[in-house]
Amino acid sequence: MNDTVLEMNGISKRFGGVAALSDVSIDLREGEILAIVGENGAGKSTLMKVLSGSYPAGSYTGTIRIDGAEQRFASPADSEKAGIAMIYQEISMHLDASIAENIFLGNLPNASGVINWKTVYEKARQYTDMVGLNVPVRQTLRKLSASQQQLVAIARALSRNPRFLVLDEPTSTLTESEADVLFNILFRLKERGISSIYISHKLKEVLYLADRITILRDGRKISTRQIAETSIDLTVEEMVNRKIDEMYPKRAVPIGEEVFRVENLEVVHPLTNSKLIVDGVGFSVRSGEILGLVGLVGSGRSETVNAIFGAIRRKSGELFLDGRPVRIRNPRDAIRSGLALLTEDRKKDGFVAAFNVTLNATLARFRQLARHSVIDRRREESAASEYVDKINIKLRDLRDNILQLSGGNQQKVVLSKWLMTRPRVLFLDEPTRGIDVGAKAQIYELICDLAQEGIAVVMISSELPELVGMCDRFVVLSEGKVAAERQRGEADEEALLRLATLGMG
Ligand SMILES: Nc1ncnc2c1ncn2[C@@H]1O[C@H](COP(=O)(O)OP(=O)(O)OP(=O)(O)O)[C@@H](O)[C@H]1O
Ligand SMILES: [Mg+2]
Repeated sequence: MNDTVLEMNGISKRFGGVAALSDVSIDLREGEILAIVGENGAGKSTLMKVLSGSYPAGSYTGTIRIDGAEQRFASPADSEKAGIAMIYQEISMHLDASIAENIFLGNLPNASGVINWKTVYEKARQYTDMVGLNVPVRQTLRKLSASQQQLVAIARALSRNPRFLVLDEPTSTLTESEADVLFNILFRLKERGISSIYISHKLKEVLYLADRITILRDGRKISTRQIAETSIDLTVEEMVNRKIDEMYPKRAVPIGEEVFRVENLEVVHPLTNSKLIVDGVGFSVRSGEILGLVGLVGSGRSETVNAIFGAIRRKSGELFLDGRPVRIRNPRDAIRSGLALLTEDRKKDGFVAAFNVTLNATLARFRQLARHSVIDRRREESAASEYVDKINIKLRDLRDNILQLSGGNQQKVVLSKWLMTRPRVLFLDEPTRGIDVGAKAQIYELICDLAQEGIAVVMISSELPELVGMCDRFVVLSEGKVAAERQRGEADEEALLRLATLGMG
């Protein structure tokens, strides 16, 4: 067995009245990948922010040791000096700076104080190549997709030549092939004796990658096990402290008339104006039906739903509600017509960071709740708290600022916001990203409730089991075109993946 190189001992951390961590200890060995798993709000990110110095020494109790020597980090810069590089759950980079600047932020290679941009760009390119990102390094971050931004964050961490790499849900925005590149990097680092701490809700990848798994629940450590001595079932059981009988509670719901249809949708590619990213897409969805939009990243899935919603420009396309043409120029029109869209990127378009949970949850329903334009705070809070119970949002107070919630719980708030609008057509783009297994099952249950009430649901997900488990029908997109359509039962995960990859069955 390798030597222990890093230890966190008896870590406790409070936020006001909430104990986010109680007496948690972990240890990391040389060249090891240690996974940390637990439900949303279990304390995983908080523990890593203690390690990275984001929460400085003095703001928690307990000790951190590297090679046996106690460390008291006053800031992330201190932990970096000690060899710790962190990839945060929430993208924490400069959207208006270039890829290269982001990679070397605070660490620009310079000779005697003069920055040599040629070297900077060359070195940046080595790291973007390493993570498989094929975008010019002078491009600003804002132009990139969520997954590309995440690859930049990974490149940045690698550029520090860390001894310890901490990854907090690095793959939640990545495609499978992008994730594979990352896994290979981690295996290579391991061979060089570099240790990683890996946080993820995707238990399959955790079992594939890690040497040991530590489980947190309600801020406490439940267990640490060798990978050979555990399983997905045991891990889930220890995480949620109950059995999950049914992951996909799909119900037979009567499917009614067509509610929504789109024809000949075209969207211009954001980077190259000459190409179409959505190229003549059309589909319809019926009342009570859950339709899955299947496709690889870049296939135009998210652009399709964003263009329908009026959030990005359509080049052409006709929309129909109940068979009648409907004009949607912007998201306000869309909401007024009975459409709702849960977006892929909650930070960018999902919530308003300065608002509390109640306001965020009720934002899209303002008009319904505000009788005579006075917002009835009590009604608003009771509407919000209904959802807090239904999908188990972990918070202290509905008036908490949304940024105080754990990542997964923020996602649940954004989801409740759209569920409350009681839409006729609900578009869900990656609805369970960053959400733990227990809460996922609850969210699926809720989506089934909505279908049962007659809402037409269109769902995008990179997790094929989720689509196969939940959808009545699949529309497969490939390179911006509809490549195939399949009924539930006509295609399994493998078949859908083949259709999405090859654009043919
Ligand atoms: N800045 C903060 N202010 C107040 N409470 C906080 C703050 N950050 C985290 N918390 C609380 O601490 C607890 C642990 O949160 P943490 O973000 O560590 O969870 P997590 O395990 O990373 O969850 P997820 O899987 O959703 O990312 C939660 O109850 C959360 O609401
Ligand atoms: Mg977290």
